[in-house]
Amino acid sequence: MPNTDPLIALRTSLAEQLAALRGVPESELPPALLDISVRRVGQAYYVCPSSWEQLRHEEGGAGRPVPYWARPWPSGVGLAGALYDDPPPAGTRVLELGCGLALPSVMAARAGATVLATDGATDAVAFAAHVLALNDVVGEVAHVDWSTHGNALVARGPFDLVLAADVLYTRANADAAAELFPRLVAPGGRLLIADPNRAGAAHFLQHFEHETEPGKDVSIHTLRFG
Ligand SMILES: C[S@@+](CC[C@H](N)C(=O)[O-])C[C@H]1O[C@@H](n2cnc3c(N)ncnc32)[C@H](O)[C@@H]1O
Repeated sequence: MPNTDPLIALRTSLAEQLAALRGVPESELPPALLDISVRRVGQAYYVCPSSWEQLRHEEGGAGRPVPYWARPWPSGVGLAGALYDDPPPAGTRVLELGCGLALPSVMAARAGATVLATDGATDAVAFAAHVLALNDVVGEVAHVDWSTHGNALVARGPFDLVLAADVLYTRANADAAAELFPRLVAPGGRLLIADPNRAGAAHFLQHFEHETEPGKDVSIHTLRFG
């Protein structure tokens, strides 16, 4: 008899996509990547590895990068909340950069926006697709690292609304973002940056006129492009 446990079906589907995107057999995926939970924050559900610490440990042991994508950070949750309170009009072309688990994209898609959620980590892209599906909204996902795929992403644009939550945590990221992000926004469009008041964000923002909704834990910066 087929197994109808939805968590097992989710795990099976994720395992196929994660392995395909990594270009490895499923047996080589770290166990903590597939030990998953479905959780809720605010108005959205998400699926993520159950233990971020264990995944970080396993990825570190394999010489892979820290899986920053694998937990919802306060900035992503805060930006999702802001979009829930003030949703984009239906049909808005939305791009999320460094989406991780893509909660802001869920809110934009729920409002009827056309959403492309992207991340430089292939694992994030597979999870983001499942988070969109879990919330019963339609959106595209793509593997996009700004350092290598910037021009290809510009060619897919422009976008009316570009979203980025907690992606300016290194100086290199902030410099790459300052060069790329404005090229992605359509004339009259907006870039929303949610950030936990990091130095990298201050470095990025000094290049642009912006409005800030300050917060103790998360500030949201709006940049408008003529
Ligand atoms: C701290 S996490 C934030 C995740 C999510 N936005 C949130 O707030 O919950 C940073 C995210 O940016 C992504 N990222 C970092 N550098 C990137 C780059 N150069 N290109 C694309 N994504 C990048 C990481 O893979 C990760 O998902």
